[in-house]
Amino acid sequence: MTSQSTESPGQQTAGQQDILAAFRQAFGHDADGVWMAPGRVNLIGEHTDYNEGFVLPFAIDLKARVAVRALPESRTVRLLSAQGSGSQGSGGALEFDLDHLEPGGEYGWASYPLGVAWALEQSGVTVPGFELYLDSTVPLGSGLSSSHAIECATITALTELSGASLTAQDLVLLTQRGENDFVGAPTGILDQSASLRGERGHAVFLDCRDQHAELIPFDAEADDLVMLVIDTRVAHSHSDGGYASRRAACEAGAAALGVPALRDLGPEDLAGAEDLLDDLTFRRVRHVVTEDARVLETVAVLTSDGAKAIGPLLDASHVSMRDDFEISCPELDLAVDSARTAGAIGARMTGGGFGGSAIALTPRALEDHVRQAVLDAFASAGFGEPRLFTVTPAEGARRLA
Ligand code: GLA
Repeated sequence: MTSQSTESPGQQTAGQQDILAAFRQAFGHDADGVWMAPGRVNLIGEHTDYNEGFVLPFAIDLKARVAVRALPESRTVRLLSAQGSGSQGSGGALEFDLDHLEPGGEYGWASYPLGVAWALEQSGVTVPGFELYLDSTVPLGSGLSSSHAIECATITALTELSGASLTAQDLVLLTQRGENDFVGAPTGILDQSASLRGERGHAVFLDCRDQHAELIPFDAEADDLVMLVIDTRVAHSHSDGGYASRRAACEAGAAALGVPALRDLGPEDLAGAEDLLDDLTFRRVRHVVTEDARVLETVAVLTSDGAKAIGPLLDASHVSMRDDFEISCPELDLAVDSARTAGAIGARMTGGGFGGSAIALTPRALEDHVRQAVLDAFASAGFGEPRLFTVTPAEGARRLA
């Protein structure tokens, strides 16, 4: 997360004039700097993170930028978003007091920057008051970690402005603490790891037990492929019951099978597990165990044969999420099926599920055809129009100006 951009500092600042000017207009003085963090696509490894297993996400070229100014003698936080915000406090900004933050409170989008400020303070870092202007290109609620992009951009800024010395590993855990204990979403470490550790041209292979991370070259273009995202625009929330109930089933399965986490099981253990667990818990366990194995295989196949060889693994992952983990929805299934039928070489829903986006690894020559086929399929089914775009593996969180 400390790697440098190839642009000179002057070029970087020039590229941030829009957000610096918006900050100045909103708060009446200059920001100290601009920081960014990207959204992510999870290539494979879903609901394995909180089971201490493996994930393989990549940071994408859609990002949240924050212009921030520290208010050293103050405990006041003022927040404004280019994508719209409430209007309490001064100048249309939302205003809060760092000494009166309530975990679980109803803060809307402000819970993301406030949550990481709160988590930093809980860990002993004194965070100054601050003013923050947010501008994000990660579509909200698209399953591409729009919330983690905000959190990771903010924590990167606040760490620097507090003068704290924290590793990427610390930032991952603090961001998780903000999500779990302040925002109230019992999520794992997948999203922030991608956003903080991502690098251009690479996916991040992460062992969620010890946070060992390895960058794996992921170059779809070399195989004349594009990674198409199909945002179904079906809203989802990981603060709702579906995510928590999947997590609870995994923990119950691990306890019943006498292992610390499902990560400790392999596909060879499944036959025995089936005898010990009720059908629902067994299928939840089977998803996680087979998904961990698919992540390892994807890393091996990517390394030996490149992106063109991973299609069947993406397909198998989707089937497992649809049938065993039951976190897909009709729109995600249609996105996957219609893209595959039209020529994508592999497709799956990505992220926590219950809505959000699917990904389809698609031959470049068929991209237009696949896009049209998906749009037609959604129209015929009477579903709302999905949003389609391509992504490439991009750099993780950093200071921009
Ligand atoms: C959400 C969570 C992650 C992870 C995924 C599912 O994105 O934030 O921690 O659990 O769902 O893989």
